[in-house]
This record gives sequence, structure tokens and C-alpha cells, in this order.
Amino acid sequence: MLSIFNILAGLVIVPLFLYIRNPYFFCDLSYAFRAMRCVIRMLRKQKLCPSILGCFLEKVEMHPHKPFIVFEDTSYSYSQADKQSNKIARVLSTHVQVKEGDAIALFMGNEPLYIWICLALAKLGCIASLLNSNIRSKSLLHCLSCCDAKVLIAAEDLRGAVEEVMPALRQQGVRVFILSDDRDSEGLEGLRDQIQQASDQPLSPQLRANTTLKGPALYIYTSGTTGLPKAALVTHERVMHAALMFSLSNVRADDVLYLYLPLYHTSGFLMGLCGAMETGITVILKRKFSTSQFWNDCRKHNVTVIQYIGEIMRYLCNTAQSSSDRDHKVRMAIGNGIRADTWSEFLQRFGDVRICECYGATEGNIGFINYIGKVGAIGKENFLQRMATPYALIKYDTEKEEPVRDSRGFCVEVPKGETGLLVGKICSRSPFKGYAKNKQQTERKKLQDVLVKGDVYFNSGDLLKIDHQGFVYFQDRIGDTYRWKGENVATTEVSDCLLAVDCVEEANVYGVKVPGHEGRIGMAALTLKEGVDFDSSATYQQVKSYLPGYARPQFIRIQDALMVTGTFKQMKCGLVEEGFNPGIITDPLYYLDNSKGYVPMTQDLFNSITEGRIRL
Ligand SMILES: *[C@@H]1O[C@H](CO)[C@@H](O)[C@H](O)[C@H]1NC(C)=O
Ligand SMILES: *[C@@H]1O[C@H](CO)[C@@H](O)[C@H](O)[C@H]1NC(C)=O
Repeated sequence: MLSIFNILAGLVIVPLFLYIRNPYFFCDLSYAFRAMRCVIRMLRKQKLCPSILGCFLEKVEMHPHKPFIVFEDTSYSYSQADKQSNKIARVLSTHVQVKEGDAIALFMGNEPLYIWICLALAKLGCIASLLNSNIRSKSLLHCLSCCDAKVLIAAEDLRGAVEEVMPALRQQGVRVFILSDDRDSEGLEGLRDQIQQASDQPLSPQLRANTTLKGPALYIYTSGTTGLPKAALVTHERVMHAALMFSLSNVRADDVLYLYLPLYHTSGFLMGLCGAMETGITVILKRKFSTSQFWNDCRKHNVTVIQYIGEIMRYLCNTAQSSSDRDHKVRMAIGNGIRADTWSEFLQRFGDVRICECYGATEGNIGFINYIGKVGAIGKENFLQRMATPYALIKYDTEKEEPVRDSRGFCVEVPKGETGLLVGKICSRSPFKGYAKNKQQTERKKLQDVLVKGDVYFNSGDLLKIDHQGFVYFQDRIGDTYRWKGENVATTEVSDCLLAVDCVEEANVYGVKVPGHEGRIGMAALTLKEGVDFDSSATYQQVKSYLPGYARPQFIRIQDALMVTGTFKQMKCGLVEEGFNPGIITDPLYYLDNSKGYVPMTQDLFNSITEGRIRL
């Protein structure tokens, strides 16, 4: 009797106990089960074919007539995509004579042909090098030589950019193919004719017999904030892991994805496109992002899943309200970089959309998913993940720009709730492949002797915080956090504060050097809401009430538009370089006078500051 009672009590008490200790215990557990299921499924698939192509071909067999890509009102089924890519693979193999293991550079914007070519390259066991379609001249040549591509395939609308570097390309021995009919002009060869005439029958899998999980699948270029782009080597294993993000976030086979992110980047290609192949869903492909078309497209195509990065969600919130704001079927948004205030605003305005914030870098070996949906967090720690891919948050010295080391020379883990630099242990389960032909940059991303002698970690460059419940919060990029008067200032915190001022639409915060002063002082570039002027006194009241003295922006610069990168992240380096000199900046500039508030910046003030007559 007693023992049965004990067991029953145990059945109630143990979960209760776990729940009280960690209210997210069951969410964690259910996520862990889902993750394990995904991993097991993936391992089984990998046995059959060690690349994402295997997932795609499986879906072709399962539902050949299901729409795969919908682009500008034309729908292409899984089977059509398969056949198109067979044609291209055949032309590449016979006419262009590419071989397994060759790197082929793709220079084009979002269109179905992009996807067919990538599938064709996978069928031939080639490495696709995904060039950013916005790069030109020197950058373009640099990116090509990074991956050693001897073949470049370019879209017709990028002909001009290619012709510009044609002599240099010829010198490097690069053959250039353009996706149009004409086969004339100066070394450019057309491909469209041949593709149209080629047979759409499958190619021998023997052609890709050497494809292995650890082998290279793609080069994706990371747009560093400084210097030329770096080509991150992406293995088939990494592609498969990234593609799993959709399944892990609970994307279902009947979902419809709205894909407008550039296919040459990780979010669009690995998470979006490869995630779609892994789950077998329909993709509404767009050339590019457009706020005005966004919701109409979603309604028209019954979109259920959207992706976002950087400032996109804010752009959507900034549009004029409309009675149809909640008239859509979008149930989930997956991405990275949404701020807490935008997150709440988005939900309030567009209804019950599950926002699944993820964190990870193209070349990184560690990622997080906020599978709980807690506003503001970029992820949730999970015991399973901690075991599978070890990582740590370590103390970072913003002044010296390096991790803090203890007397024995090891890094120091920060206590829970404090900000630290995220590092991920490099091991066979979480490898770091580095950058093509750039040993120096690859080594710079590695950190040795972190917690024990001889260990090696990947330095993410991101400052994160993990709270007592295991939620992970993004704080800053290490280059972005600056130090003033001996204090660290996180730029995200300052911009959140400025965004609360009525007139402010966007805020980009950074530190600038002042002659004769240590560290960098805060400056903010703002854009204003339509039709309003800069309200200097409201801004002053806000920063005075909410920010400590050292964190208040000393200078404010009003811009018509903030510059963003190709991944919709705010750009800082140009702004940092220009500083606060009214002689070179034509935008309106303001200076924080502690007795008067924000006053217009003058050349006199500037001279007084740089000559040390005014101490900041
Ligand atoms: C594929 O692997 C075989 C056996 O390892 C090797 O002989 C062959 O050269 C490889 N082919 C390519 C294109 O790398
Ligand atoms: C969207 O859903 C509605 C209602 O379920 C259906 O009538 C319509 O045909 C669908 N549109 C598309 C493009 O699938």
C-alpha cells in the first residue's frame, strides 16, 4: 500500500519539483525530444546521401507535383525543379566540362534559375560559390580568387558588372558564362540555348560519388564590417544542420515560406531554401524585400512562415497601419536580430505570430534557438545542447579588446546573468572550417587555452548574457561596445533608449575618438519619423532620465536614412570614421551641453573640443 502511494506521490512530486525549479522544464524536454528526432532522421538520411540534395530528391519522389518554387506568378513543382537542374547539370558537365570538386561561382540575384543551378552543382559534386550580387570590380575579383573558381556563371542583368572586370578575369583564367542566348561579346559565353536543348533525364549518381559529409558544399561570403569579404567554407554537414532549423522550429510540411532574403547569404540559402528542401514545403520566392508588397504577397499566396533578419521587422512595423494588418495566415516568423520593442509591437499589430529568434554565424560552430518565444531572447540554453556542443561565456576586456586571463593564463567564465564573450569549443562535432585562402583570419577567430591547456574555441565576437532561467540575450558585437570613462557602453542599450523618444524612427549608436581622451565617447545617428523635426529637449530628457552620464550620446547626427548592410544590419564603420566634425559632415549635428541639452554643433565647439579647451 505504502509503496504504491509513494510511487503515485513520486509521479506527482517529481515533475512538480522539476517544474518549480525550472518552469520551462517541459518545454526544454519537448524541444530536446524534437531535436533528437530530427537528428536521428538526419543521420538516417545522411547514410543514403550525404548532402541536402538527398533531402530534395526524396521530396521529388514523395510529391513530384507539389509546388516547390513560386516566382512572379509562375509555379514550379518539385519534379520540374529536378528536371531543370538535370538539364543544367548536363550542360555544365558536357559543355563546360566541370568536374567533381570544382568551385563554380554564381553571380546572380534571386530567381528560380539560381536554385536550379545550385541543385545542378550538387548533382555534379561541385562547390557553389555564392557571390554577393551587389559587389563590383575589386571585390568581385577578390571573391573569385578566394575560392579558386575557374568558372563564373552570371545573370544577364549583371553583364555590365562582369564586362567591367573581363580583362582581369581572362588573366586569371576564369571562364565566364552568361545566362542569356547570345554567345558573342568578348569572351562571354551564353548558356541558355544549350540548357533549353539538353535532356532532363537524371545524371549518374557516380558523378558525385566523392561527396562526403565533411566535404565542402558551398562558399558563403561574410560581409565583415571592415575589409574585403571572407569566403566561409560550408560543409555538407553544416548545410544539413542549418536546414534542420526549420524542423526544430516546428515548420510543418504544409507550410508556405515567403523567401525574399538574398540567396547568397546564410539566412536565405541555408535556413530558408535548404530548410524548405528538408521539410518539403512550398517557397514563394521574391527578388527582393519590399514593405509595400509584403503582406499582399503573404495574403495572395497563403504564406504561413516568414523569415526576417536585422531591421526587417522594424520596417514592417513602420508602415502605415491598415485594417487588413491582421488579415493573413502567417503563423511563424523565424530569424535573427529583432529588438524586444519591435517584437512586442509586431505581435500587437499583426496578431498571433510565433516569433522564433535564432542565433548563429555562417562560419560559427554554435547556435541557439528561442523555442519558448520569450520576447527579447535570442535563444534558450538546453542541457542537451550543452552536452553536444560545449560553449562558454568568458570575461572580455573592451579596452584591450581581448579576453581577460587569470593568473594561470586561462579565460574566466562570467557568472550567470553577466555579459561575456561567446566562444564555442572546436571539436569534431562542432568544427570550425574557417575561411578559404585566409589562414590569418581563420587563426584570428580561434582562441587557444581557454579553460584548459590545449583547448581551442571559436571566438564568435558576440557579447551575450544568459539569465538564471537559461534565456540567452544578445548584448553587442565586440567592436561595437565601446568604453568611456572606464565604463563599458553597450550600443544596443543606448539605441533602445533613444528609440523611446517620439520623434526618433531609427537609431544607430557608436563610439567616436576625441583627441586627448581615453576610450571613445557615444554618438548616435538618428532618422526621424516622417514630417517631424528633431525634438532636442525630449531627447535630452530621455537620455538624462534613463542613461548614466558616461552612456549618454555626446553627439547626435540626423540622417535621412541609415545605411544598412546586405543583411539589413546597421553600418557603423563609415560613421565612426567621419566622427563629429561639422566641417566634413553635412547632416545636422548636435552636441550635448550638460547645462543646456542638445545644441547645434558648430565649428567653434568642434575646435574647442579637439584643442582641449572643452573637456568632455
Ligand atoms: C574520387 O575518389 C576516388 C577514390 O578515392 C579518387 O580516385 C578520385 O580521384 C576522386 N575524384 C575526384 C574528382 O576527386
Ligand atoms: C489560399 O487559401 C484559400 C482558402 O483556404 C484558397 O481558397 C486559395 O485558393 C488559396 N490560395 C492559394 C494561392 O493557394
